[in-house]
Amino acid sequence: MEIRHLINIEDVTVEWWNDLYSTCKDIIAHPEDYSDACRGKVMASLFFEPSTRTNFSFQTAMLRLGGSVFGFSDPSATSSSKGETLADTIRMVSSYADTIVMRNPKEGAAKAASLYSEVPLINAGDGGHMHPTQTLADLTTINTLHGEIGNMNVGLCGDLKYGRTVHSLVMALSKFPNVTYYLIAPRDLAMPEYMLTFMKKHGQKYYEVTNLESTIPQLDVLYMTRIQRERFPDPLEYDRLKGVYVLTKRKLDQAKKDLLVMHPLPRVDEIAVDVDSDPRAVYFEQARYGMFIRMALLLRTTHMPRIKPPYVDPAREHRCRNKVCVTQSETYLPSLTYDADGLYCGYCDSKL
Ligand code: CP
Repeated sequence: MEIRHLINIEDVTVEWWNDLYSTCKDIIAHPEDYSDACRGKVMASLFFEPSTRTNFSFQTAMLRLGGSVFGFSDPSATSSSKGETLADTIRMVSSYADTIVMRNPKEGAAKAASLYSEVPLINAGDGGHMHPTQTLADLTTINTLHGEIGNMNVGLCGDLKYGRTVHSLVMALSKFPNVTYYLIAPRDLAMPEYMLTFMKKHGQKYYEVTNLESTIPQLDVLYMTRIQRERFPDPLEYDRLKGVYVLTKRKLDQAKKDLLVMHPLPRVDEIAVDVDSDPRAVYFEQARYGMFIRMALLLRTTHMPRIKPPYVDPAREHRCRNKVCVTQSETYLPSLTYDADGLYCGYCDSKL
């Protein structure tokens, strides 16, 4: 099955992943064979939120494929600052580009944008919701360095509430066999309800724990995350929770010899710099794999046909209570819901 818009990692199948990973491995082995693969193709890079890795790795991925890039990393320089809607911005950009890569602080923004795009749209992060291409980088790292995806204990540590990368990663790993999760977080940063619902529904085995040190010895993968300061409604709450977990070289003493220490980056203080020299620390490698898997992804999306999206009736019937859901600011969006033991917002996945 082909995926047109990569919005939510849940859409990814194992077959689709295996295909993409196979292309990625070939790109790594024979980069020269791909240097003209996107000649004449154009990628739009719309970053409504700061980024180093995702923005630059997508741009370099496209340049390494011989394609071109336009876009912005400061939305104040675009007409969205004059009040242009997301829908109109996407209608315009999709008429200029062959694929769109978008990061936006509003949860569900990528889903909303895809309704108005003539070309494939890739979610480069929508608020604290999802970050599917980070997950592709994570899967590439695990597949390559663990030798397979599955048969492993995965520790997810830190901000599991606002950390969109862990949400996407769990959704992806649920498709692979025999993964046990250790959700290492303080109560105030625990995995959100919709994610726990998802894990239960998909028969995922998980333990919610608070102690990093005592959990480390059981892990094959330790996925550290930053406390996401920018997502806290109350800065005092951030001050209370920052620095709650710090991985040090000493804490790694009890870990397996082939543990993979991963992190989507950027880090603040949750991994001490003395861990960087440990061969188990693979987070910089992980970021480089991100560029290669994004090359494989762009190779597909830029060669898909342009399709005019159907007219979307702007009538709204539901109001999502999530204050950072895209429907709060883009008030013309149509109602989109789904049922999963209760009604959920089809943009941001919050319970309605
Ligand atoms: N991992 C990640 O999304 O990093 P950036 O915010 O720098 O893109």
